Amino acid sequence: MKGIVLAGGSGTRLYPTTLAVSKQLMPVYDKPTVYYPISVLMLSGITDILIISSPDDLPQFQRLLGDGSSLGVNFTYAVQERPNGLAESLIIGAPHIGDDSVALVLGDNLFHGPGLSPLLQRNARDVDGCVLFGYRVSDPERYGVGEVDDQGRLVSIEEKPAVPRSNQAVTGLYFYSNDVVDIAKNIRPSARGELEITDVNLRYLEQGRARLVELRRGFTWLDTGTPQALLTASQFVGILESRQRVRIACLEEIALRMGYIDADACHRLGERLGTSDYGRYVMEVARAWRPSTTATPQLAGA
Ligand code: DAU
Repeated sequence: MKGIVLAGGSGTRLYPTTLAVSKQLMPVYDKPTVYYPISVLMLSGITDILIISSPDDLPQFQRLLGDGSSLGVNFTYAVQERPNGLAESLIIGAPHIGDDSVALVLGDNLFHGPGLSPLLQRNARDVDGCVLFGYRVSDPERYGVGEVDDQGRLVSIEEKPAVPRSNQAVTGLYFYSNDVVDIAKNIRPSARGELEITDVNLRYLEQGRARLVELRRGFTWLDTGTPQALLTASQFVGILESRQRVRIACLEEIALRMGYIDADACHRLGERLGTSDYGRYVMEVARAWRPSTTATPQLAGA
């Protein structure tokens, strides 16, 4: 499965902060926002990741992340000229997807919870159609909303409905089979002029090929679209990390635990960040690493 992180858009709700810097590069506590969605793809077992952003912002992502080889993964980059909608990322990403399945994650979404990595890996296998991830929220009208019947089957999806049929938001993580590229190419722009991801998901729903996996109590899903949401996400990460002395979405640690790099390589990455707490943490994780005792990620979003 290939991965796409969509990290474009204009970030207008964060103006003036985002006039000069991409919102997905703003810190959520101790690391850039984009680390969180990248960590989700890495925890899903995905190592081929395309990062899409605006022409102005893309060079900053390249500077931050490079080609990914130091993390044992492969980062490539593509421009979205204008924010024409989330589904356009699947058209831009078509050469990257090739004949594979694909996971699309929004660059401002943060996921955390026990057993996240095995849950993602299970659902990434043999995708036929689309797999959506639902999360119950108090304000579903702000999101795509999914409705399931008594048997847990997905029966409707609506984008930002004025009167939501459920409180289950469709989060910004989507697993698709390869035919998503054709579907994305054939949808029409919505009233707001965008290629909506909800319209792609509706095609699969019509074909009976859409599944919704609920992220239940104990999971956290946050986005960072407004100053308050950014603060809330930072507070959440800050509280967890200082209370437990673990890090959420530490890419170096995840690379180590997933077997993408070895402990020596991980330690070197920490040395490069040495004077920060983050860098010291990466070195500690590398020194404590016992591959035989911990086969799957225990920390960092897992
Ligand atoms: O966060 C989950 C929600 O994301 C879903 O529940 C909705 O169904 C989905 O439409 C989307 O809603 P948003 O209102 O959050 O979409 P927004 O337009 O804010 O875009 C989400 C992120 O994607 C944002 O960080 C900016 C970026 N983006 C957006 C567009 C439209 C792009 O990179 N390119 C784009 O063309």
